[in-house]
Amino acid sequence: MKILYHENCQEFHLQNEGLSYVLAILPNGEVGLRYIGCPLDPDRTYGYLERYEGRGMGTHQEGLPFEFCLDWARREYPTSGRGDYRQSALDVSTPKGQPLFPELRYVSHEIQEGKPELLGLPVSYAEKSSDAMTLVLTCIDGAIGIEARLFYTIFGGFPIIARRVEIKNKGSQRVMLRRVMSCACDLDDSRWVWYQFSGAWARERQPFCTPLRPGIQAIGSTRGSSSAQHNPSCILARPETTEDHGEALGVLLLYSGNHSLEVEVGSHGDTRIVAGINPWNFSWTLVPEDRFATPEVLLAYTAGGLGELSRAFHGIIQNHVVRGFWKNRERPILINNWEATYFDFTEKKLLSLAQAARRLGIELFVLDDGWFGRRNDDRSSLGDWYPNPEKLPDGIEGLAQKIVDLGLRFGLWIEPEMVNPDSDLYRAHPDWVVGAPCTKRTLGRNQLVLDMGRPEVVEYLYGVIAQLLRRSSISYIKWDMNRHITEPLSAALPPERQGEFFHRYILGVYELYDRLTREFPQVLFESCSSGGNRFDGGLFAYAPQAWTSDDTDAVERLFIQWGTSYFYPPSTMGAHVSAVPNHQVGRITPLWSRAFVAFFGAFGYELDIEKLSEEEQEALARQVAFYKEWRGVFQFGRFYRLRGPFWTGPAANWMPGGAGGAFHLPDNEIAWMSVSADQRRAVVLYFQIRSSPNPPMTRLPLRGLDARRLYRLRVYPARRLAKEWGPEAAIRNNEGLRRGDELMQVGLLFGGDGWAGTGRGDYAAWLVTLEAE
Ligand code: DGJ
Repeated sequence: MKILYHENCQEFHLQNEGLSYVLAILPNGEVGLRYIGCPLDPDRTYGYLERYEGRGMGTHQEGLPFEFCLDWARREYPTSGRGDYRQSALDVSTPKGQPLFPELRYVSHEIQEGKPELLGLPVSYAEKSSDAMTLVLTCIDGAIGIEARLFYTIFGGFPIIARRVEIKNKGSQRVMLRRVMSCACDLDDSRWVWYQFSGAWARERQPFCTPLRPGIQAIGSTRGSSSAQHNPSCILARPETTEDHGEALGVLLLYSGNHSLEVEVGSHGDTRIVAGINPWNFSWTLVPEDRFATPEVLLAYTAGGLGELSRAFHGIIQNHVVRGFWKNRERPILINNWEATYFDFTEKKLLSLAQAARRLGIELFVLDDGWFGRRNDDRSSLGDWYPNPEKLPDGIEGLAQKIVDLGLRFGLWIEPEMVNPDSDLYRAHPDWVVGAPCTKRTLGRNQLVLDMGRPEVVEYLYGVIAQLLRRSSISYIKWDMNRHITEPLSAALPPERQGEFFHRYILGVYELYDRLTREFPQVLFESCSSGGNRFDGGLFAYAPQAWTSDDTDAVERLFIQWGTSYFYPPSTMGAHVSAVPNHQVGRITPLWSRAFVAFFGAFGYELDIEKLSEEEQEALARQVAFYKEWRGVFQFGRFYRLRGPFWTGPAANWMPGGAGGAFHLPDNEIAWMSVSADQRRAVVLYFQIRSSPNPPMTRLPLRGLDARRLYRLRVYPARRLAKEWGPEAAIRNNEGLRRGDELMQVGLLFGGDGWAGTGRGDYAAWLVTLEAE
């Protein structure tokens, strides 16, 4: 990893074993991008990549060459109003609204080992100065008095550049930021396919893709959270790119608030990516000497396909975003009482559930919603974070101790950012809620949102939660957020600063997380927002895992976990086995199929164990024992998507196994695998949604193995484990010793078990373990 500066041609070259990122100073003094791609020789320079030609309707600035038109220059931090008509990164005005058109000219740079810290926002970090290098480019518009510092960090081992910007008011007047994005990246051409990860409650992060076309394609959130609607991430891949080959460029914004990711194809077939805080209802006033820091963007490039791109993001999240005690540490197997009891529980019931869980080897008991105030449904008590004595006679302290005495750890659910109008907190502080100046407010799940931008609200919540954590043996916190924001106004801000509300809100959330995680580093935080409504890289800096979705159905989870895996590693995905018929979709799937899917995440249960038969409880104990043995590979292995449920590329892309044909519809077979870092152990999931008569043969080539090693294979069919059904083709055909190269070229053999296969029914799944001899 290195950053070189070629002074003679003012070119900067950030390079590691995965990529080169080459910047230079443009004829107007701004910073421009010459190249992003596979590594180039950093000792050479690449001035010839800047091509300027006069074109009809082009504009040029007085004193600069006629050929240099901003509208087709590759600018790193574009401003508007001077002849570049594409999406800008920065728009500034006077406080009264008169637009200013800054020109950010390079004045100096620094090259540093490591990565400078940023307080208040979640950013990637380098533990050792040898892990990363950072380039800081300072650019100024002297007339307006605006300084922009552009930060670029390159990490060793990952084809990723972390980018962010700081804007400073160097003038003597106030200025207002109207749009201040984290980065722009201008690419030469537009032969790209855009992937986004979109959905809704209970069907989060489903991949959608479409070729780029002239004009703007964009996703964003104006809901006050990163949202299930559009994850703050996107990919540009070549049309021919597959999981294993081809160019792909990924953008991941480390931010949990309103975001915007925009891709614009310009008039000459060029492509501009812009990502950052959503400009809707945003403004930020900078008084002289004030500074504004944008959230960070991780920009990845690979020629190794979508799979390689995902693994780069997984690696950077695990090693340079997740921090502290839980970094790369195996997560406990939990039981959560939500789907087991909902609001209807007593301490007696919780303890017998915990006892049953303990007998099965489960490690952590989580008490979900309904333990506080007078909360017996979702209409009251959010904000009153003291235990309900009718349900918990000895309080949280007493319950936690009893759970610990049983030999389990204890975890607790909270929803700190919310308040019900029917609560003591609201009665005491009605002015603390968002939208307070409005006469008519909008409720979501009967609740209002606390104004997290107010220091007294954060202080109060810190006091309440810290006290809970100090007094009771709590090892885990599930931090929920069950509605989006409406009437985005703060009673604490003057009218001209209301545009700051959304960003101040999320800064307050980060501050609370930061204080709590620093003071209680060993408490495992799991973020949640009605499932995966706030599943983003920003929160992983504090809470190393998130509840992936309220949808716990095994089939739906295949789609959700598949989509989530493009950016986020399995260790971040809370995944539980729940009861059947499933509470979200009513589907009945085999117990082992449910476990096989949930194994590829931070595993747990969310059902009433005591309602299960003895045989089922025994199965749970075996699942728990199995997961413990393979937990490191499931949570932290290198993850490979093998066969997918979505059409996200040309048809040919979708058959990495080469199976093809009408029998193997892309949404019927899902397969993925995880391989340990030393390539000695691997686990493969192969899931067949619908059963088909007279089942066809299929091969499933594997990935990521050591070609020369011999692996011992064991096959676990979900159905057979539930019931003894005699010989099973998957076992006959796969168990034994196979070399890594065979497994990657030929693959596992599935299907073809005639009558027996037909009897297996829908939702059949197989887990295959591989251990090097
Ligand atoms: C939404 C979460 O996603 C669920 O898991 C559960 O905690 C409920 N909220 C409780 O209200």
